[in-house]
Amino acid sequence: MTAATGGTNPVVLITGAGQGIGAAITRRFAEQGAKLALVDVNAEQLKQLTDSLKDYDVEILPLSADVSNKEQVGQLVRQVVEKFGRIDVLINNAGIIRDNLISNISEQDWDQVLDVNLKGAFLCCQAVFPTLKTQRYGKIVNIVSRAWLGSIGQANYTASKGGLVSLTRSLALEFARFQINVNAVAPGAIDSPMTQGLPAEARERLIRMQPTGKMGKVEDIAAAVAFLASDDSEFITGQVLHVDGGKSCGLLSL
Ligand SMILES: NC(=O)c1ccc[n+]([C@@H]2O[C@H](COP(=O)([O-])OP(=O)(O)OC[C@H]3O[C@@H](n4cnc5c(N)ncnc54)[C@H](O)[C@@H]3O)[C@@H](O)[C@H]2O)c1
Repeated sequence: MTAATGGTNPVVLITGAGQGIGAAITRRFAEQGAKLALVDVNAEQLKQLTDSLKDYDVEILPLSADVSNKEQVGQLVRQVVEKFGRIDVLINNAGIIRDNLISNISEQDWDQVLDVNLKGAFLCCQAVFPTLKTQRYGKIVNIVSRAWLGSIGQANYTASKGGLVSLTRSLALEFARFQINVNAVAPGAIDSPMTQGLPAEARERLIRMQPTGKMGKVEDIAAAVAFLASDDSEFITGQVLHVDGGKSCGLLSL
């Protein structure tokens, strides 16, 4: 597996970089010497992450912004281009959950999840497109979820991630002629602050449901993202790479 090759030190824009999977993706690209534009709505987390990267000799542009806000997304993309002159890789990773059975999903919980997970990725793809098109080069990786296939108690989340799979496939077709690849990584249950926040019983049930009997690591997702952001995947576009220990293959039966 080689590093992303939008030049020697690719410019990589990562949303939801502050913790969990986003922070692992950030570390992975830092190891490769990338120039990093790190976006998170939580400024404090972003600061902690940036401080933790001091040992890597890489340029970092921390950007505190909400990906569901069109104005903020436009502004942050302008800042990235101003500082680095180009964008090679966009990782749409920012995501939230507001789990509930359908009868208990409030309109607000529906809107928030769709706004961050789906509209946020749309806004970022739209905002970087003119730059990628001019370059005739770009890699977009959308972080979806194994749950896009269906999951009880997550109708808002699965709809957002299913929508993001469709967005990935459509943009792959629209952007192919400009040498821009658009792919998705679908994590299964991953040990991150998102799943650490679940009630203990729900977390144990989740682990029991895994074919491997354990959760994946944030680094497992970062490795798949690195592949799809590299030129080793040049002829792969519009695809969903499940990184889920086999969970998407079917039900576990005794
Ligand atoms: N952890 C899992 O098991 C799992 C499984 C499947 C998919 N995913 C997906 O992976 C991605 C990362 O998940 P995670 O587990 O690291 O989650 P996390 O909650 O640990 O981290 C998400 C990050 O996104 C940031 N964020 C939230 N809303 C934002 C917004 N509007 N604008 C900018 N930043 C925002 C948060 O501040 C946080 O730093 C998400 O898209 C999630 O849906 C996670």
